[in-house]
Amino acid sequence: MEIKLVFLVFGIIAFHIHHADGDASMNLKVLVKDYFEWRMSEKPEQSTYKSFSKYNDILDSMKESGFEITKNRTEVFLTGLRGITRDELSQQEKISYDILENMLTTFLDGYKWRYYNTINPMNLLDGPQYNPSHFHKSFPFDTVGDFENYVARLQRFPNQLDEIITLFNLSISKQTTYHAVSLTLVFNQIDKICPVPTNYSIKCGYFTPFVKSIDHIHISSEKREDLISRAKIAIDSIVSKYQEVKTFLQSEYLPNTRKHYGVLNLENGREYYQACLKWYLSLDLTPEEVHQLGLREVERIQSEMMKIVERNNFNGTVSEYFLFLKNDSSMFFNTSEAMLKSYSDMIHNQIDPLLPKLFKKLPNLPIVVKAMTSDGPGGMYSSGSADGTHPGIFWANVLRPQEFPKITMLPLALHEASPGHHLQFSYNKFIDSPDFRSKMESSYLYKVPVAFPRYTASTEGWALYAESLGHELDLYKTDPELLGRYSSEMFRACRLVVDTGIHYYNWTKEEAIEYFLNYTLQARADLEVEIDRYVTWPGQACSYKIGELKIKELREKATKELGAKFDIRDFHTFIMEGGIVPLNLLERNVNEWIKKRLAEETKPGKPEPGPTCSAPNQLPFHHLFIVSFLSCLSILSLF
Ligand SMILES: *[C@@H]1O[C@H](CO)[C@@H](O)[C@H](O)[C@H]1NC(C)=O
Ligand SMILES: *[C@@H]1O[C@H](CO)[C@@H](O)[C@H](O)[C@H]1NC(C)=O
Ligand SMILES: *[C@@H]1O[C@H](CO)[C@@H](O)[C@H](O)[C@H]1NC(C)=O
Ligand SMILES: *[C@@H]1O[C@H](CO)[C@@H](O)[C@H](O)[C@H]1NC(C)=O
Ligand SMILES: *[C@@H]1O[C@H](CO)[C@@H](O)[C@H](O)[C@H]1NC(C)=O
Ligand SMILES: *[C@@H]1O[C@H](CO)[C@@H](O)[C@H](O)[C@H]1NC(C)=O
Ligand SMILES: *[C@@H]1O[C@H](CO)[C@@H](O)[C@H](O)[C@H]1NC(C)=O
Ligand SMILES: *[C@@H]1O[C@H](CO)[C@@H](O)[C@H](O)[C@H]1NC(C)=O
Repeated sequence: MEIKLVFLVFGIIAFHIHHADGDASMNLKVLVKDYFEWRMSEKPEQSTYKSFSKYNDILDSMKESGFEITKNRTEVFLTGLRGITRDELSQQEKISYDILENMLTTFLDGYKWRYYNTINPMNLLDGPQYNPSHFHKSFPFDTVGDFENYVARLQRFPNQLDEIITLFNLSISKQTTYHAVSLTLVFNQIDKICPVPTNYSIKCGYFTPFVKSIDHIHISSEKREDLISRAKIAIDSIVSKYQEVKTFLQSEYLPNTRKHYGVLNLENGREYYQACLKWYLSLDLTPEEVHQLGLREVERIQSEMMKIVERNNFNGTVSEYFLFLKNDSSMFFNTSEAMLKSYSDMIHNQIDPLLPKLFKKLPNLPIVVKAMTSDGPGGMYSSGSADGTHPGIFWANVLRPQEFPKITMLPLALHEASPGHHLQFSYNKFIDSPDFRSKMESSYLYKVPVAFPRYTASTEGWALYAESLGHELDLYKTDPELLGRYSSEMFRACRLVVDTGIHYYNWTKEEAIEYFLNYTLQARADLEVEIDRYVTWPGQACSYKIGELKIKELREKATKELGAKFDIRDFHTFIMEGGIVPLNLLERNVNEWIKKRLAEETKPGKPEPGPTCSAPNQLPFHHLFIVSFLSCLSILSLF
């Protein structure tokens, strides 16, 4: 099957190169379709998650030899793409062309760093042990064939774990191991997966489908017993292989973990860090520039906060003022229900009615607020279906009302719901974009920068920008509410300073914690995990603030250059209708938009271009698409 695919891909691309100047649009269509098909074949686990069942019996390969295969095919796709005449494409196709080009070149640019984090395939936030329920939760269990596929996957899993050990082992010889803090939680995560040795009277996630779902299908009792007995043998083997992974990590890997937190201490480490930053930001910012931007933002936000403290005649620091505010029980809801109700009221009654002030052609897809069932970040968002039959969901953490001051809730609602993630993903559903955009692949972040990007700086940057729109919508009505907003922003600004601090300026973990303690009210225990995350994913934490700053900068530029022609609703709608694109492309698109607007004559009463939101052309998602789970991990501890 593998080999057949290779030929398929090569064959079609060769065809396109020869016919490139005939029909650019058709060539692009086929190329992006092949590309998506190829990505799904290389990422079978994700393809299941995206409701493609073709590869449900196999798992992602974790072999070193796979790197070069992926690189070679990426080069072939790039050649194919560049054989297409961009000028002959429609506006939306040009965006697809540019995004694909960005994806392919981003991967190829990162390739030289494949022997760094990329060969360390498990850490406190990444890897198959991190969220083991993914293995069965995204899987369809409707037919006997589904169960056969599932058993085949179980049987292949020990082999994947062997490949993981081999990669980890390679990083020891390349001297590119993690710092030990990236692994300490991993042992506990492995221990929690299934009882050792397996005991099928005790819950073990891999076995759950045979406890529940199998009762709902038409199956003979012999077949059922046969599947169950093969599954048990496979799971026994998985569980013992996980123990091997653990033993290897403890006895071979841990003694060889890197001594310093920052990657700058690795060979060519500063250059490596710069490559990671570039992957996340899709901008050519140097670590120095990111650090300086962070310092400037921290100072600006701090002075805004200080103004609030002063005008309330409070004799003390910002932190002391927070403590003073938090000392009042009316700052908290007493029950989870009250918190949920308040979120829902904010979204539907306070925020939504104001959106037409800032947007046109609002998609108006429904959103509901639901309580997260287990503890985690403050909020998450999962998108609904394009026809509105399944609403988007803002999963709110209301498990500990006494720890989430009310004033932290509004920024979170703006971020996760509208005009943040929900609005962005709603517009995105009405864009006629190919699968590789609408079902954008996501990677384990340990692979960065040897991975195809998914533009977190754009999605999270937008969501943070959405928090700032609360000012314009006059939603932050009281000083405490303003402080809630600033503290959320401050947290992201500090990350620019601290992430670069660790990986470029050689800060220790203690310095990083102290910096946060100086400017935020984060608890030390939360900061410990927060910093471990930065140590593990160099550059990731910078996406949020940099994305937001870029959008603000483009807005300022458009305002200045367009003068009276500038309409904030057009600006926002233009950005939303462009879909999820890398920041450098966003910048280029906005610049072109400005030029076009400048060239337009102002014709009063000119009708809007036709509505793009009336005819959904994408199939509804059948599975929840958790958009921002990883990226929102630390909203949990805003204060
Ligand atoms: C990748 O391409 C290079 C150069 O064309 C070639 O030498 C190499 O054998 C290819 N590797 C694989 C795994 O196909
Ligand atoms: C790790 O690699 C070394 C060679 O670098 C080899 O001797 C050893 O057997 C490997 N260990 C495992 C568990 O693969
Ligand atoms: C498996 O777990 C059950 C429930 O805890 C326990 O009663 C049983 O003794 C266990 N079996 C083995 C073999 O450990
Ligand atoms: C980083 O700091 C450590 C001491 O904490 C020092 O040993 C190391 O040499 C420094 N690395 C660089 C690249 O300056
Ligand atoms: C503010 O507090 C400090 C000590 O906490 C005290 O010395 C000072 O007099 C106070 N200032 C005012 C204006 O109350
Ligand atoms: C909290 O409130 C109590 C009782 O009103 C008061 O004694 C204490 O000083 C307050 N603490 C802070 C930090 O404001
Ligand atoms: C929560 O309960 C406390 C004490 O029972 C009360 O003082 C406070 O006003 C309540 N808060 C809200 C928001 O109802
Ligand atoms: C935190 O604040 C203290 C006191 O202002 C200062 O001495 C220290 O350098 C700051 N720490 C960091 C990491 O910036």
